Amino acid sequence: MACLIIVGTQWGDEGKGKVVDLLTERADAVVRYQGGNNAGHTVMFGNKTFILHMVPSGILRETTSILGNGVVIDLSELVKEINELEKMGIDVEKHLRISDRAQLVMPWHKTFDQLREQKKGKSKIGTTGRGIGPTYEDKAGRAGIRVGDLLDQEKFRSRLSELAKEKNIFLEKYFDTDETSFSAEDIFSEYADYLEKLEPCIVDTPFLINQLIQDGKNILFEGAQGTFLDVDHGTYPFVTSSNTLSGNACVGSGIGPTCITGVLGIVKAYTTRVGNGPFPTELLDDDGKILQSEGNEFGATTGRPRRCGWFDALLVRQAVRLNGITSIAVTKLDVLDNFDTLKIATGYRLSNGEESDNLPRSLENVIPVYHEMPGWKCQTAGLVKYDQLPGEMLGYLDKISELVGAKVSIISTGPKREETIVLNPDQFWD
Ligand code: IMP
Repeated sequence: MACLIIVGTQWGDEGKGKVVDLLTERADAVVRYQGGNNAGHTVMFGNKTFILHMVPSGILRETTSILGNGVVIDLSELVKEINELEKMGIDVEKHLRISDRAQLVMPWHKTFDQLREQKKGKSKIGTTGRGIGPTYEDKAGRAGIRVGDLLDQEKFRSRLSELAKEKNIFLEKYFDTDETSFSAEDIFSEYADYLEKLEPCIVDTPFLINQLIQDGKNILFEGAQGTFLDVDHGTYPFVTSSNTLSGNACVGSGIGPTCITGVLGIVKAYTTRVGNGPFPTELLDDDGKILQSEGNEFGATTGRPRRCGWFDALLVRQAVRLNGITSIAVTKLDVLDNFDTLKIATGYRLSNGEESDNLPRSLENVIPVYHEMPGWKCQTAGLVKYDQLPGEMLGYLDKISELVGAKVSIISTGPKREETIVLNPDQFWD
């Protein structure tokens, strides 16, 4: 039995989808435990690229794929994604399991997310507009609807009509828009159709996952977003609305922390961020443009260009601590192939003039202190053997490992499954 958690160590988009897909080869189940369809997990095999927003990427290998109690689900988007997977010949009904305790993203959540961002103007968060924040707010405010509530149709109908009334008042009085009001009856019939399709997949997932653990199975917990989008530990308020840290894999899937056997941190060889918020190593010059174009840094969910910058060791060192990371997978090294010099932030100069190598509470107004290293200036994309890697790249990897305090277990040299070097492949699974 092994329970391995995969988490992003930066601001998301570190390449988790690819690593999850790779490690799923030996997993019996893959679980998502937080977030919703704000995530975009890109997996590439053969010449095909798949972007999954909701269903765990394990589904592409027809592994049991579980949406845990901690996720928020937009049923209209989930059904669209399932239809696409079914067109590819994947038996989704057989492999997908959905928690009866997961929260539903309702139409008002999406509308309010977008209207709130418009209202905020310049100080907007830059959310994905998928209704994620308002859904988690209603969860905590005990005003949410859970997947299991759909199973009792009469109760669902009356809850819908109660909530729609309240949300319509909010729409009209607070947002003061011409948006059409929410019709409880229309939503009821739309959701009845979704239920017809999804009912066979709705189960008590904490029971299922604990049973798999008891049976000695290997389970992968697929984090979404990244450490610094965590609602407690990220760059608040420019964060998502869930806990993205490994600790939440337990709460969001209903297992105890004693079951966890490892935490793999996914580390992009440089840094990116979508949406607003501080980003100390951001490059607004040509180097930033090179990272963006070479790394194809455009959001998988919204298509927005990602902001790009040098590797920030302070961030990743903090992520190693916060998540209890046992080893790291370094991705997108090949994007750095053409640089003469590479920079790594090893400290920040704070606004009071002091230097710190510890992450301060606010990342606003800090100036990175860089360590410079020579680039390797050769094509490394697609290399699959450790001893083919140039010395400068090995030096860069050693430096990252030393600065963040975690050993490197996976090196990714391209987007495809096979473009990966796994050091000691037996370390993850029994
Ligand atoms: P929300 O999660 O849609 O509320 O967006 C909050 C912040 O998290 C915004 O800056 C988004 O761009 C960012 N975000 C949400 N999901 C992802 C992701 O999967 N990758 C990268 N950034 C994300």
